[in-house]
Amino acid sequence: MSLILGIETSCDDSSAALLHRDGRVVSCRVAGQDEVHAPYGGVVPELASRAHLQKLPGTVEGVLADAGCTLADVEEIAVSCGPGLLGSLLVGVAYANALGWAKNLPVRGVNHIEAHLRSPWIERPDLPYPALGLVVSGGHTHLFWCRTASEIQRICATRDDAAGEALDKLAKHLGLPYPGGPVIDRLAERGNPRAVLFPLPRMSSGDPLDFSFSGLKSAALHWLRSHGYGPPFETDTHALPGWEYDLLASFQKRVVDHLIQRMRVAAIRRKPACLTMAGGVACNRLLRRRLLALGEELGVPAAFPSPRYCTDNAAMVAFRALDGCGPARPGVAPLDAFPTAHWTPSG
Ligand code: KG4
Ligand code: ZN
Repeated sequence: MSLILGIETSCDDSSAALLHRDGRVVSCRVAGQDEVHAPYGGVVPELASRAHLQKLPGTVEGVLADAGCTLADVEEIAVSCGPGLLGSLLVGVAYANALGWAKNLPVRGVNHIEAHLRSPWIERPDLPYPALGLVVSGGHTHLFWCRTASEIQRICATRDDAAGEALDKLAKHLGLPYPGGPVIDRLAERGNPRAVLFPLPRMSSGDPLDFSFSGLKSAALHWLRSHGYGPPFETDTHALPGWEYDLLASFQKRVVDHLIQRMRVAAIRRKPACLTMAGGVACNRLLRRRLLALGEELGVPAAFPSPRYCTDNAAMVAFRALDGCGPARPGVAPLDAFPTAHWTPSG
């Protein structure tokens, strides 16, 4: 078989995947680290790199075993080389370089955000271009104009916190389990999303399309203080006071309103053939419903991957490698990792 081995270690998930050259995912595993970071309420970079060292080799062996393959069936290695946590990235990149060198395989460096951006096509290869694509995760909130899979311009990004970071920080403040995004998704169902009317983020200058989430977080903390709610908060998620479910539902609604409002403005301006989103926050059920509704309103398809391909995963890394992005170097010319990324500004 001629397979691409994908490797992903940009943040706190060690993932490996095998992808067929025709785009089919043969096997994919993700070894998470929530138990490592939960006591701190956020990712601790040093602990993340150490956990990757422990988890990555077994994860790679696992995907080969799942597929009934050996490294002899692999013809290329694709690895996330940035942006992300440098220490975490270096574990995956060093592993890929060493394996490439030992097995004489080309190693392709893949941009992690571009892999997220491309991930909706794993399950929907028919989605048309040009596409307006949102990448929304714990570390990133970017909106891209994709003329084709490889002609990408970033339209806007967050000026401060990422959307997932805002959800995670509010949950942490309230003493809720980590990571906060999926917890808020679940608990918001029990609250009234119109109970607290948070202002929609507004920009004082520059491109009005940029995102901003830190003001929303400050507004939530201000609301708590002004209502006399402070720690210790109830930690049993089944027995929160009614106001807390309302607060979470209202906060989540505003995060989603903000994302969808920017996408709507960009879509009306640019008239894409489809709307896509990916990244961990794209698992959010309200956001998924609202993106589908926006697609219906504008008369274009709207798509997002299954949750397993929304959060960090190596299948999207191998899939992005199919586009031929980045140099595929033999293992003897080692790749480097980069913590930040830049794209051509949009016109
Ligand atoms: O893409 P990802 O796995 O890692 C990063 O590259 O950041 O995304 C993780 C983020 C976290 O902030 C997490 O709280 C958020 O995705 N998340 C969600 C949901 N599932 C994960 N946010 C809202 N609703 C969800 N269902
Ligand atoms: Zn990610």
